[in-house]
Amino acid sequence: MSIQLETQHLTGFIAPEEFVSAAPQVKLAHELLHTGSGVGNDFIGWVNLPTDYDKEEFARIKAAAARIKKNTDVFVVIGIGGSYLGARAAVEFLKSNNYNTLKKDTPDIYFIGNSISSTALAEVLEMCEGKDVSINMISKSGTTTEPAIAFRVLREMLVKKYGKDGARERIFCTTDKEKGTLKHLADAEGYETFVVPDDVGGRYSVLTAVGLLPIAVSGADIDALMAGAAKAQKAYNNPDLQSNPCYQYAAVRNMLYRKGKAIEILVSYEPCFALMNEWWKQLFGESEGKNNKGLFPASVVFSTDLHSMGQYIQQGRRTMFETTVLFDKPKKEINIGHDPQNTDGLNFLEGKSMAYINEKAFEGTVLAHTDGGVPNAVVRVPDFSEDSLGQLIYFFEKACAVSGYMMGVNPFDQPGVESYKKNMFALLGKPGYEAQKDALEARLKK
Ligand code: PA5
Repeated sequence: MSIQLETQHLTGFIAPEEFVSAAPQVKLAHELLHTGSGVGNDFIGWVNLPTDYDKEEFARIKAAAARIKKNTDVFVVIGIGGSYLGARAAVEFLKSNNYNTLKKDTPDIYFIGNSISSTALAEVLEMCEGKDVSINMISKSGTTTEPAIAFRVLREMLVKKYGKDGARERIFCTTDKEKGTLKHLADAEGYETFVVPDDVGGRYSVLTAVGLLPIAVSGADIDALMAGAAKAQKAYNNPDLQSNPCYQYAAVRNMLYRKGKAIEILVSYEPCFALMNEWWKQLFGESEGKNNKGLFPASVVFSTDLHSMGQYIQQGRRTMFETTVLFDKPKKEINIGHDPQNTDGLNFLEGKSMAYINEKAFEGTVLAHTDGGVPNAVVRVPDFSEDSLGQLIYFFEKACAVSGYMMGVNPFDQPGVESYKKNMFALLGKPGYEAQKDALEARLKK
């Protein structure tokens, strides 16, 4: 069972011949990616990652996860952006968006270091009180401020709790194989380390140790996740647009973008997909938003957001299209029972499953939205298994790279992310930024 792209709700927005003219552009983007001759070609390690990964490290990840599951009540994952979103999205997708409150035999997992909020960090420290704690500090560069601050605070807490030697057994660092502050600190302190490969950028790194250790700690099957991704690697290796749903999605995005649809909304009907929406937003936003180009990635969860954003999507500015992710099988099912009094008037739903009702909600919505001028592409996924998630991650990563090349941007860099950091460091008085400080402070004066 594999992921499919359904295009029937694009009728009237995209003509069949547009696919014919997009085919050579897709083929060119495919060649750039697969021959490594495109821009950003030093960051394409993720293309073959599902089959070409470090098996010895993979075994170490599983062994570390097994130890953590045994000796830990609270597992704190520290990281931001690509060093955070994939792991959290996968845990919520595979386990639950209520994972920490579920009855389970795996540790609670908290994600921190993804903001500079003292409240958020203090709350996690409170959650750790009286519990056995382990932490995974994740930073490819090893220098990112947000996680570095959280790591300093949590390390201090662990050393107080277990002593230096005890803490060492509970601190795991995922970073560059040899350089960066974090790698040096981990080596000096004797923490176990895992590697973010040089040729895999943050937002493409969920299938490396960055995502795999936290996902394994949640009890999910990372072998099945990689097997799903490997299936997708094989399935989407075909440059022919007609038979490659991943490339069809990349092409559809570009066709709609060129028609003035500047916003893509990723739609799901499952709350456990909300963090996948966030992961997807980073993947596409950071990959395409540059050189004054790029679709703005937005997201909603329906039917929840039909009661908030639904009005705008139906009748607001006609600058958007939707990509809806649907699942053939829900994780759990509930059927509607019989009420002899029918006081709530719901007996017309008697015997129906909620999955059926959810599908009708989608059908009603997609017809209303296309009538309202919002094109809809549908990504159909078999189920909520690790295998399907592995496929879906690879599907989006590859579509993103091909779409970026079609758009004429480097889908693997993020030069714009540095701008705020330079200002923040200057304002904080970081050594080396002295020259900018006065000028920035003058601009902030009221
Ligand atoms: O995709 C990216 O490159 C970014 O989102 C990074 O993952 C993020 O800035 C965190 O960087 P690092 O892992 O170096 O701490």
